[in-house]
Amino acid sequence: MAGPIPDLEDRATRCAQRLCEADRVLLASHIDADGLTSAAIASSALERAGIPFETVFEKQLDEAAVADIAATDYDTVLFTDFGSGQLDVIGDREDAGDFTPVIADHHQPADRETEYHLNPLLFGINGASELSGAGASYVLARALATVADNRTARSVATDGGTTAAARADNRDLAALAVVGAVGDMQASGGELHGANAKIVEEGVDAGVIETGKDLALYGKQTRPLPKLLEYATDVHIPGISNDQQGALRFLDGLDLELKRDGEWRRWSGLTNDEKQTVASALVKRAVSSGVPAKKIDQLVSTAYVLPEEPVGTELRDASEFSTLLNATARYERADVGLGVCLGDRTDALERARKLLREHRRNLSEGIDLVTREGVTHADNLQWFHAGDRIRETIVGIVAGMAMGNAGISRSKPIIAFAEKNDDEVKVSARGTHNLVRKGLDLSAVMGDASRVVGGDGGGHDVAAGATVPTGEEEAFVERADEILGEQLS
Ligand code: C5P
Ligand code: C5P
Ligand code: C5P
Ligand code: ZN
Repeated sequence: MAGPIPDLEDRATRCAQRLCEADRVLLASHIDADGLTSAAIASSALERAGIPFETVFEKQLDEAAVADIAATDYDTVLFTDFGSGQLDVIGDREDAGDFTPVIADHHQPADRETEYHLNPLLFGINGASELSGAGASYVLARALATVADNRTARSVATDGGTTAAARADNRDLAALAVVGAVGDMQASGGELHGANAKIVEEGVDAGVIETGKDLALYGKQTRPLPKLLEYATDVHIPGISNDQQGALRFLDGLDLELKRDGEWRRWSGLTNDEKQTVASALVKRAVSSGVPAKKIDQLVSTAYVLPEEPVGTELRDASEFSTLLNATARYERADVGLGVCLGDRTDALERARKLLREHRRNLSEGIDLVTREGVTHADNLQWFHAGDRIRETIVGIVAGMAMGNAGISRSKPIIAFAEKNDDEVKVSARGTHNLVRKGLDLSAVMGDASRVVGGDGGGHDVAAGATVPTGEEEAFVERADEILGEQLS
């Protein structure tokens, strides 16, 4: 539960002290929702501490990316949401005296240590479900505020009230940490746990997060009600989920004014009474169609709301916010997502929304493709090869979202291949928390199986990835299947 985490915080203090000794810092982060929020948290904290910095994003922190970073004339590099898994590569550089790495990450560390390494896994905290990269960056930001006594935030914090106090100690950054954790799908059983829950508490105290039980559907802020229900497939409700006409009939059958000026309203705009009416009818329908009680419980979960953002926007809901960020960073526009995180509500937000429409289309086309063409089943896994038909940066998201569709099992991990370039193939693997409880560790599978065929990989127990040489896909699947057999026996 949410007590202080002394060892982790001590390590954060050491990292913060090192950053304060630097004349300037290069901040390097990962290109997804968690990586962007990590970068936003770290850059706000550096700025408030009065430490000059520059930000770069990398798709993968491979040898080439580390070499590029080493070639800059920065003596101190802060890695967020990656770095731990590449400590071997970074370490070799360190020996050459190129730069001092400071790392705030939550991925499985490589077999090598470094002095300024902040990672929940080093302190018995689960990096896939209890603290994300943004969470680790937040812990660092909190320490930095204390160590630097927030040199510039003091002058910023003139607007009085909670927000000023929260800015001075960086607690206002908890909102972004929650978006990062939700974006990495760290919520399980309907809510965030462990160190994440502690960050939520700080965010609530600071007035930047609100929590409450709500309908567990994606799109409560922005989707018109029929779409909200039709697209919600985590809990399948016969005659509503994946059923456009059915969802419309269901809503028409309620004694409520759910249209305004001819347009369907959104969940976020309903009154509490109206929400109650829709939710009860939904549960009633689920019960009468024979949906198991355990599944029905999953219709309600904890919602994480950013109360300072306008009602009806993606930014108000942690889950929708994180998807908006993925829509930028996974399409080589991390700058746009970072801008949104840092408060740009004009150009960056407009651009991000355009990218989101494209991202949505790509996800839905990708899911359709995989569902239509099906997967190949091995003993302990299922796999598909998307070639160049799904972008390698989103093939993992597609694989995870396709699980549970017709012919795609949720009782075996799924492995997805997509072309990266002429010589290399990207591999993404996704499992379920249920499989993890039975021994699944996809990080080990991706790491070991890729190295056998001359590639490299890593990640988390429940979601991991790798890069392998083109042509080695079958050999990779064979080895992964063997390892999975051992893990799940
Ligand atoms: O690199 P990073 O840790 O930020 O990425 C984690 C990835 O794993 C995200 O794309 C997230 O959606 C995915 N994930 C998942 N299922 C989980 C946990 C994480 O698909 N249960
Ligand atoms: O893998 P990543 O964290 O990017 O996934 C975001 C999650 O948001 C998806 O797994 C899915 O559950 C949800 N989502 C959705 N509809 C969309 C986009 C995302 O349900 N259009
Ligand atoms: O790219 P994808 O979304 O499939 O990545 C899933 C997880 O595996 C992420 O946490 C990512 O950082 C990690 N990964 C890795 N090494 C790779 C590819 C992915 O650690 N070569
Ligand atoms: Zn992450």
